[in-house]
Amino acid sequence: MREPLLKLRKVSKHFGGLYAVNGVDLDISSGSIWGLVGPNGSGKSTLFNTILGLYQPDEGSIYFSGRRINNMPPHQTYGLGLVKGFQVPKLFQALSVLDNMLMAGRNHRGDSFIHSLLFRNSWQEQEVEMADRAMELLELLEIAHLAAAPAGELSGGQRKLLEIGKGLMASPTLLLLDEPVAGVNPKLGRRIFEKLADLCDKGLSLFIIEHRLELLFDFAHRVYVMDKGKILIEGAPKDVVKNALFYEVYLGG
Ligand SMILES: Nc1ncnc2c1ncn2[C@@H]1O[C@H](COP(=O)(O)OP(=O)(O)O)[C@@H](O)[C@H]1O
Ligand SMILES: [Mg+2]
Repeated sequence: MREPLLKLRKVSKHFGGLYAVNGVDLDISSGSIWGLVGPNGSGKSTLFNTILGLYQPDEGSIYFSGRRINNMPPHQTYGLGLVKGFQVPKLFQALSVLDNMLMAGRNHRGDSFIHSLLFRNSWQEQEVEMADRAMELLELLEIAHLAAAPAGELSGGQRKLLEIGKGLMASPTLLLLDEPVAGVNPKLGRRIFEKLADLCDKGLSLFIIEHRLELLFDFAHRVYVMDKGKILIEGAPKDVVKNALFYEVYLGG
């Protein structure tokens, strides 16, 4: 059997006496869209942040591409291809859309000042390559016409697309998205999910927290349902909606 891309075993994260994440096992294989759903406060964002190394787990093991990543700082997991969109939630409002993309690309390389002085030529080549890549991604996300516009002028939906684009600048293997279409109108929300599905067809794996279940369930191959820090159900959306427990969770049983 192929090793999953992301594997969690008995992962817990406590805040004082609160078990925000409580003994979670996950197996995320590559080339799919995985969903994570559950009521408010069920621990979804904490689970993502623990996976990314923003929080240290209190118990358990996290593996990415076969490597144990428990004590890795976020920039290192980022370098391995485990990336969260909206990881740097701040858009540079006054900078252009393209410059925001390039900033995300530079973060990824972690180039030092000395390095850029010493390797000025290769640095310039890299800049050109990065700009090409940024424009390609903006085209894919259908916001290339806004490349020169200040990010502060984007609509809510366009902002979401730019955030996804920034995440993609890191060439992730697995992209984690925490509510990628929150606050976006339903039609655009669907189009954003269609783009995510295209990216998945191109080989990107996605793990997505989303409150809009009707949307997520149309696109996710498998979903995890979380409540009170635990994973209660895992399955294909069509099976999850047949599970009585799923409704209990949402009715606050
Ligand atoms: N940094 C924190 N400090 C203390 N408690 C937290 C912190 N982050 C989240 N929590 C608590 O952990 C639980 C899970 O929160 P969260 O992961 O944000 O849930 P979700 O994303 O599913 O809405 C909630 O009870 C929340 O209040
Ligand atoms: Mg959350």
